[in-house]
Amino acid sequence: MHVLELRGVSKRLGRRMVVEDLNMTVEAGEVYGFLGPNGAGKTTTIRMIVGLIRPTAGEIRILGHDVQRDPVRALAHVGAIVENPELYSYLTGRQNLIHYARLAGVNDIARRVERVAERVGLADRLDEKVKRYSLGMRQRLGVAQALIADPKLLVLDEPTNGLDPAGMREFRELIRALAREGMAVFVSSHLLAEVEQMCDKVAVLRGGRVIAEARIADLTASVGHVWLRVSRPDMAQAVLRNSGWEVARDGGRLRVAAKDEAAIAAVVRALVEQGIDVYEVAPGGGLEQSFLALTGESPAHAAGMA
Ligand SMILES: Nc1ncnc2c1ncn2[C@@H]1O[C@H](COP(=O)(O)OP(=O)(O)OP(=O)(O)O)[C@@H](O)[C@H]1O
Ligand SMILES: [Mg+2]
Repeated sequence: MHVLELRGVSKRLGRRMVVEDLNMTVEAGEVYGFLGPNGAGKTTTIRMIVGLIRPTAGEIRILGHDVQRDPVRALAHVGAIVENPELYSYLTGRQNLIHYARLAGVNDIARRVERVAERVGLADRLDEKVKRYSLGMRQRLGVAQALIADPKLLVLDEPTNGLDPAGMREFRELIRALAREGMAVFVSSHLLAEVEQMCDKVAVLRGGRVIAEARIADLTASVGHVWLRVSRPDMAQAVLRNSGWEVARDGGRLRVAAKDEAAIAAVVRALVEQGIDVYEVAPGGGLEQSFLALTGESPAHAAGMA
C-alpha cells in the first residue's frame, strides 16, 4: 500500500484549472520532491493532500484511506507544515509543542515533546520564547510540531524558504534521517539543487501539470556526459565529431557524451593525439543537465530558479 497516492487530482479555482490530473505515489522511507516555480500549484496540491480544500476531480489516499470520504482516518497519520507554520511567538518552544500535542490527542505529552525536540535538535533551546528563535529554529520547531503525533507521512510546503545554506543543509539532513527511519516525506520546493540533494524522486510541476517525474538516481545516472575545457574548442569539436562522439559547444567548453571512464579516457586521448591540450574534465552529471532532456527546457525556466 502506498503511503500517499494521488489519482487524477484536479482543482479548479474560479475559471482556472490551477492543478490538473496529478498522479503521484509516495512510499514509506521515500522523500518525494514536488518541484515547480511560483504559481505552479504546489501549495494548492498540498492543501488538498492535508484536507484543507477539496479536489474538483480525482482522489487522494493516505495509507489507503480517502482524504475526502474518510478524513479522520486518512489524516490521522499526517504531519504537515503548510505555508508558514503557526507558532505562538510569545510562548516557549516547549509550550508550543505541548499545545499541539494536546490538540492532536497525544499520550504522555511531556515525553513526546522531549522526543520530537531532541529529534529536530531543539532540546536545549526548548524553554526560550519562540520570538527569540532564529528562522532556522522556527522551521525546526515547525517540523517538531508536525512530528508530534508520530505521523507516517510528513508534508512540507517549501520548508527551507529563507534558510541560509547551513540551515538548509541541516534541514536536509533531518529530512533524510526521518526517511531512513521509514517516514514518507512529500516536500515542495522551487529549488532544483535542493530537491536533488534531499529527495529520492521528483515530480516537476508547471502550470498545474506534472511535466516530468523521475528518480533522482536515474536522472543523474542517465546523463553520462562530461564538460571539457580545451585549448582549441573549434578544432576539438571537429575532431571529436569526426570520431563519432556526440559533442555540444557552450562558449569555450565542450559537452561530450561519454558514459564511463573508458569513454572519457578515449575522448581525452583523441584530443591529445591531435595536439589539443585538455585543461579540465568535469563531470556533467547532476539534475540540472538531465532536466533539459527530461522537460525540454532549461532548469532555470522550468523550476523558477532564474
Ligand atoms: N481563488 C483563486 N482563483 C483563481 N486562481 C487562484 C486562486 N487562488 C490561487 N490561484 C492561482 O493558482 C495558482 C497556483 O497557486 P499556488 O499557490 O498553488 O502555487 P505555488 O506553486 O504554491 O506557488 P508559490 O511558489 O508562489 O508558493 C496560481 O497561479 C494562483 O494565482
Ligand atoms: Mg506555494
